[in-house]
Amino acid sequence: MGSSEDFLLPRPAWRGTRELVLHLAAVKWAMGSIRALVQLRIPDRLAEGARTADELAASIDADPSRLYRVLRAAATAGVLREDTSGRFSLAPAADGLRADGADSMRDVFLFTTDPMMWRPYENVQHTVLTGESAFASSFGKPFYEYLRDHPESSDVFDRAMVQNDSPETFELFRDVDFSKYRKIADVGGGRGSFLAEVLRRNPECLGAVCDHPLALSGAGEEFERRGVSDRATAMATDFFEKVPEGFDAYIIKRSLQNWGDEDVRRLLAKVREAMGSDLEARLMIVNHVLAEPGTPDFGKLSDIEMMTVLGGGRERERDEWNRLAAEAGFLSVSEPSAGQMSLLMFRPS
Ligand SMILES: C[S@@+](CC[C@H](N)C(=O)[O-])C[C@H]1O[C@@H](n2cnc3c(N)ncnc32)[C@H](O)[C@@H]1O
Repeated sequence: MGSSEDFLLPRPAWRGTRELVLHLAAVKWAMGSIRALVQLRIPDRLAEGARTADELAASIDADPSRLYRVLRAAATAGVLREDTSGRFSLAPAADGLRADGADSMRDVFLFTTDPMMWRPYENVQHTVLTGESAFASSFGKPFYEYLRDHPESSDVFDRAMVQNDSPETFELFRDVDFSKYRKIADVGGGRGSFLAEVLRRNPECLGAVCDHPLALSGAGEEFERRGVSDRATAMATDFFEKVPEGFDAYIIKRSLQNWGDEDVRRLLAKVREAMGSDLEARLMIVNHVLAEPGTPDFGKLSDIEMMTVLGGGRERERDEWNRLAAEAGFLSVSEPSAGQMSLLMFRPS
């Protein structure tokens, strides 16, 4: 059970219309089961070796029979493996759901399956019909306002953002010569984990992470973890009001897709204003660049999160990024690839 070929579920034996639709419904059953196991830290317990449901249940004081049913559902979904004697072990995805694995995405998973991120999906049609975010319709206020009023939800979000970065994110910056950009601002940089890693890799640079005070409360810890506290600063700002001046590179990573065109123009105009007459300064946007129509693309699914949770937010094609940047006073100086996370570089025009 649970070969990588089956991931997320075994292929339906006969792929007729009815089986395919049921297959879609089964995604919910799988996701709920996996969330429960992650909350119960089952992947961490299985990292020590294969276990039966009885052994696992004893370690968390749960009912063995109900736990077994959830475990075998997760095995059917390809996240665990069950052998013929009923012992469970980790499949590759479950390894990423451990708290302390090198490639842990546990916080990302807990965030994306959190009730605040599920509820908007009960009513995507509301957004399609009215343009109002399903999140605001469910919770009575826009997403970021909700986070400001619920520090525990903000913590779930900020922790997930820290886990978003992988070696591939840094690979995007492989050809960037940071000796030209010694002062770096990460605008909307959350807890500053990305900035801290950039500074760790470039000892001649210093930088600032600019975000809401709630997100920044975790910045000191991130700077310390990477040994860059003496070169990194946390600056509280509303980036629609003010972006700090005097930096050589302004990075905006995985943030602009949260906003509609007018807000993106407003924020980019603030960055342009901050650059002033420094024509050597660079805007570095890290975002998914949508593939052409007709090509399946992960971004065409994550785009729905932007629409239902953030309202005006959207994933964009390369031309749309270039047009918005041009309207804010920037010229493209890069050739980003479509259908993936890319680095889009701009200079002041
Ligand atoms: C999707 S997260 C991306 C975080 C980080 N750059 C990353 O790649 O993981 C968007 C960030 O924008 C911040 N943000 C949202 N509205 C903001 C505002 N008006 N001023 C400053 N930061 C804001 C959020 O707090 C959050 O940290």
